[in-house]
Amino acid sequence: MSPTNPLRDPQDRRLPRIAGPCGMVLFGVTGDLSRKKIMPAIYDLANRGLLPPGFSLVGFARRDWADQDFAQIVHDAVREHARTPFREEVWNQLSEGFRFVSGDFDDDMAFDQLRRTVEELDQLRGTNGNMAFYLAIPPGFFGTVVGQLKEHGLADHREGQWRRVVVEKPFGHDLESARELNDILGNVFPSGSIFRIDHYLGKETVQNILAMRFANNMFEPIWNSNYVDHVQITMAEDIGIGGRAGYYDGIGAARDVIQNHLLQLMALVAMEEPIAFDAESLRIEKQKVLASTMLPKRLDLTTARGQYAPGWAGGEKVNGFLEEEGIKPTSTTETYAAITVHCDTRRWAGVPFYLRTGKRLGRRVTEVAVVFKRAPHLPFSQTATEDLTQNALVIRVQPDEGMTMRFGSKVPGTAMEIRDVNMDFAYGGSFTEASAEAYERLILDVLLGDPPLFPRHEEVELSWKILDPVLDHWAKKGKPEQYDSGTWGPASADAMLARDGRTWRRP
Ligand code: BG6
Repeated sequence: MSPTNPLRDPQDRRLPRIAGPCGMVLFGVTGDLSRKKIMPAIYDLANRGLLPPGFSLVGFARRDWADQDFAQIVHDAVREHARTPFREEVWNQLSEGFRFVSGDFDDDMAFDQLRRTVEELDQLRGTNGNMAFYLAIPPGFFGTVVGQLKEHGLADHREGQWRRVVVEKPFGHDLESARELNDILGNVFPSGSIFRIDHYLGKETVQNILAMRFANNMFEPIWNSNYVDHVQITMAEDIGIGGRAGYYDGIGAARDVIQNHLLQLMALVAMEEPIAFDAESLRIEKQKVLASTMLPKRLDLTTARGQYAPGWAGGEKVNGFLEEEGIKPTSTTETYAAITVHCDTRRWAGVPFYLRTGKRLGRRVTEVAVVFKRAPHLPFSQTATEDLTQNALVIRVQPDEGMTMRFGSKVPGTAMEIRDVNMDFAYGGSFTEASAEAYERLILDVLLGDPPLFPRHEEVELSWKILDPVLDHWAKKGKPEQYDSGTWGPASADAMLARDGRTWRRP
């Protein structure tokens, strides 16, 4: 039983897990992430009765705000972005625990004030000395902030209490900077108190990959190179970079999405069965996959990148990347990236994993498609099967969450004609509960101290080891190829698969 969660019955995992007394300090309250994801998720958790009654939220920023101004910011964010309905009584109770501390990250007086505020909340709201420090700020500031937390006694806690730090990606820019970042955090917080958010791991459908693979008997026997031809993992977005030029330029699609979300998805698809569903057992298996993941030799033929050009999205004319506000016309940052990787294990020998992501593509969709080899022999005439493609199992991460199995079936009629059909599982059709937002699940897990859904530093390092050679290769090549907004990416991405005799799915 978790010490922070006395209400949880270890025998019955179906009971809601409720966080014990605690609070959170949020750095970066004015950012998009805080407004769109973190603040609404905190309200949704409160609304679902999963936060302790005295939960407190302290905002820290340079603005000259009073507590009420901060509460108004959270209120507006909740009204606009929360998943669950607004309820006055929930809001009133939650907002009583809101405080704001104004200051720069290097302002000692402000951190003293923060310490006093945290102590006061312990007394007033019974947060019990348990605090999570959420760094929703650019990583360049992590060092200063955690240094200040240490300096001002905020990282210390008494026996039976906890202090945790939550960091958002990017976890570094490459392997070397990821190590530096880890050292900075590790100097102040023990590794078990560092929670790295990869919000894809908080998605129900992503966790369902493990349920599907390891709670059933029908998939595992064919989940290997004897049957699987290749795997395509796609995270496509129809939006552009919006107002995120400052973050995105110089980062690009591969660092933003492949290094974390897509390699984590791949690890879940490719890993062996863990001995238990605890953080350590999962890490061991994911780490083995990442450590055995290799790039092909010819990166010029097996990777692709692009930048969106002007075009159409949702019936509207949209700018190209180089015309976006805050982007230099000479920027070489890619908004589309595709790579080929192999997992050098007995299970996956010879099975390519194709990973792609991009902005301003045809539509928003994230999916994992496991594409099977053709049947070794077809006892039908060729005309009977000419429309038949390869069997596939598609895990639809979002939207329209569910799974599709594609296989051949006889077309009704007097002739023998076989065509692809789909068998569908949709979450909406099978369950009445709506899925929580990934951030709800992950914030709750931070407060519970439950780490299985958070990547460890070793996984982060291994992911950079995989990606760094691709980034170096692209850096030498100059400008990425342009693709029209609203299409499925640059021609070189199609050519990359065509060389292997394959095509990308058009989801
Ligand atoms: C973030 C990326 O991690 O994921 C963004 O930084 C991207 O660029 C976002 O838009 C997409 O998340 P989701 O949950 O909408 O697929």
